[in-house]
Amino acid sequence: MANPVEIKNLRKYYRSGIRGVGVQALSGLNLTVKQGEVFGLLGPNGAGKSTAIKIVLGLLRQNSGECLVFGEKISKSAKRRIGYLPEAPNFYRFLTGRELVEFYGRLCGLRGAGLQKSVRESLELVGLSDAANRPLAGYSKGMLQRAGLAQAIVHNPDLVVLDEPSSGLDPVGMKAMADLVLRLKAMGKTVILCSHMMGEVETLCDSVAILYKGAAALSGNLDSVLGRENLKALVFENLSAEAEKKIAALAEENGARFAGEGRAGETLSNIFGKIVGERRGK
Ligand SMILES: Nc1ncnc2c1ncn2[C@@H]1O[C@H](COP(=O)(O)OP(=O)(O)O)[C@@H](O)[C@H]1O
Ligand SMILES: [Mg+2]
Repeated sequence: MANPVEIKNLRKYYRSGIRGVGVQALSGLNLTVKQGEVFGLLGPNGAGKSTAIKIVLGLLRQNSGECLVFGEKISKSAKRRIGYLPEAPNFYRFLTGRELVEFYGRLCGLRGAGLQKSVRESLELVGLSDAANRPLAGYSKGMLQRAGLAQAIVHNPDLVVLDEPSSGLDPVGMKAMADLVLRLKAMGKTVILCSHMMGEVETLCDSVAILYKGAAALSGNLDSVLGRENLKALVFENLSAEAEKKIAALAEENGARFAGEGRAGETLSNIFGKIVGERRGK
């Protein structure tokens, strides 16, 4: 089965200003998003994250390189399989939650009883059934983001692209959004999560790519990116020094190597800081 997203050597230039000075937004980007995973797209502002996402969604065309979505060049049928929550969406505030989701459902070609069922189910999934008939103007920031998510999934897409879904949310709203990402994954959907929140990415994502100046400076499975593939941490309460020695000796007898105390591996924010810091220093 084809991967949801396969990007090879993608380049994108923007012409801007009266002299048409070019900006290179993507400079040979490679990445693979696998079926059923939550993929974290990280990078400082201007790294090319939104440009890459817009090419995946078919909103922009690359200058060269390849972007395959479910094994095809962006086509109408591939677009139907993608749901998108833009960064800081600006919905019509006079619509109710139900009307918003219905509007997007219609745009995706849903009609009649099928539309009503999909609208009901996506509002239910994001926990907005009770607020469905209230105008968006009265929604909290967290409710608006959840309404945006309901809009993104109303047509039951296989790939869901979320651009900064937690920005501006309080911890409760962030937790709700994180739980929803995991729900989508449990439903078998593939999720691309563009985020600045390292903790969120670290707890939710199976794979990550750190973009810098239009290319992936580092990408892969989260465990390999954090260097913890072969590490295992056991946490004990009230472990005596004597017992610790015995456990260490037993582990070494069985071929393990003592690799350090405390938390295993790196944190994603350290890796991010290192990569961006190193490159800025060049
Ligand atoms: N429409 C545009 N016209 C000209 N330059 C753009 C346009 N959109 C983005 N850029 C430039 O392309 C680069 C990558 O931008 P973007 O993809 O938005 O990055 P990110 O989402 O990672 O912040 C930046 O230098 C940005 O200024
Ligand atoms: Mg962006």
